[in-house]
Amino acid sequence: MSTEVSNEKIPNNVNLSEDKRLQRALEQWLPNYIDWWKEMGPEGFLNQDIYLRTAVSVEADGWAHFDYVKMPDYRWGIFLEPAEAGRKVGFGDHADELAWQQVPGEYRNMLRRLIVTQGDTEPASVEQQRNLGTTAPSLYDMRNLFQVNVEEGRHLWAMVYLLHSYFGRDGREEAEALLERRSGNPDKPRILGAFNAPMTDWLSFFMFTTVTDRDGKFQLLSLAESGFDPLARTCRFMLTEEAHHMFVGETGVGRIIQRTAELMKKNPSEDVTKEGGIPLDMIQRAFNYWLSLSYDLFGGEISSNAASYFAAGLKGRAYEMKKYEEHRVLDGDMKIDVPKDGKLITETVALRNAMNEILRDDYKEDNERVVVRWNKVLEEEGITNFRFQVPSKRFHRQVGVYAGHHFTPDGTPISAEEWNRRKYEFLPSEADLAYVKSIQSPVTTIGQFAHWIAPPKQGIKGRPVDFEYVRL
Ligand SMILES: [Fe+2]
Ligand SMILES: [Fe+2]
Repeated sequence: MSTEVSNEKIPNNVNLSEDKRLQRALEQWLPNYIDWWKEMGPEGFLNQDIYLRTAVSVEADGWAHFDYVKMPDYRWGIFLEPAEAGRKVGFGDHADELAWQQVPGEYRNMLRRLIVTQGDTEPASVEQQRNLGTTAPSLYDMRNLFQVNVEEGRHLWAMVYLLHSYFGRDGREEAEALLERRSGNPDKPRILGAFNAPMTDWLSFFMFTTVTDRDGKFQLLSLAESGFDPLARTCRFMLTEEAHHMFVGETGVGRIIQRTAELMKKNPSEDVTKEGGIPLDMIQRAFNYWLSLSYDLFGGEISSNAASYFAAGLKGRAYEMKKYEEHRVLDGDMKIDVPKDGKLITETVALRNAMNEILRDDYKEDNERVVVRWNKVLEEEGITNFRFQVPSKRFHRQVGVYAGHHFTPDGTPISAEEWNRRKYEFLPSEADLAYVKSIQSPVTTIGQFAHWIAPPKQGIKGRPVDFEYVRL
């Protein structure tokens, strides 16, 4: 297998042209995918030239090529990291056996479920973000949105390749179904909650790319350890793209904070909404909302499914081989606080059953590092009366042991009555959403930015900030 991506109808580095059956199957799926993109992809920007990066190699350095592309002509394709000779299953009951190059029969259903669930999130986020182009705060931001969108489309390709190559007929059916579900549609929703939530403003977009794409990072990290080698190699390459999505989110929120801080200093006695900025507490509420939905994506705290995935060697911990010494995890336990009769009771859970929680903890820590950087913006601007906080893993959960119970963002249990009374101290209200929508009029002049967000420090790939990132 080459590290270079071929220049075929379906660009790839997996010698697709040598497998005629697979090539035909994917070439049949391609027009359906393009139809889906035209129907559900970014609204109103099918024919514009966008300054995008495209993968041309899977080498760690220099894999990306930047140029103007119309989104439907983007080089969707199949890129896997090169195989490591003699790679072994790293963890679980099969640790130290040779990694699987084909689907192990006894784990077929589990593996298909993992791939379909991951695959479903990719087109879902494109659907959620489809109307945001029309209110972009600048051409720079518009381009970043579209870059994220085309790469999520490519991530769908990555999962569809696995379904087509390794799962025969039911894999092909699942690949079709990935184009049929629709985010937020009650009759055929996407599989996971956060991917059905409406996203109608840019604050939500930046929060989503900060925290929900970060869930993607952790899911991919755990699948990159998989004993099913093609899945591991696919996910490793996807991680390189995910990093940019989180950059877009974190710096986007950082720039909003920056502008708000500037407006606060300009007129300390004034509410920043009078100046057209987004108040810090409103930003925190959007963070609380998207982060709590994203905690849910990790699944229940105590999970026999997670134990089975680990035992089977299909889904490991993040950085399983780098970070841990012992990979079977037959001993050991974790303490988890479980709500009972309005109080929290500490339960001891076997480690394998706590795999979701281990991943969620790593994820939370990563978010804490982001918040440190956001707070640094406030420090540098001399704002002393506000600091962002990462909400507790118990806050506003719909999945797992905390679902159906109420907690403040710092994790204190409260009654249903108190929750209902104070809910909009913690979560975005209709008024928040209406306000954010009201200020986001589109800015399409080269080098100009909407009033509510500071310009970035740099442009993309060494280009200036006032570069024509989208040709309208
Ligand atoms: Fe993705
Ligand atoms: Fe992503």
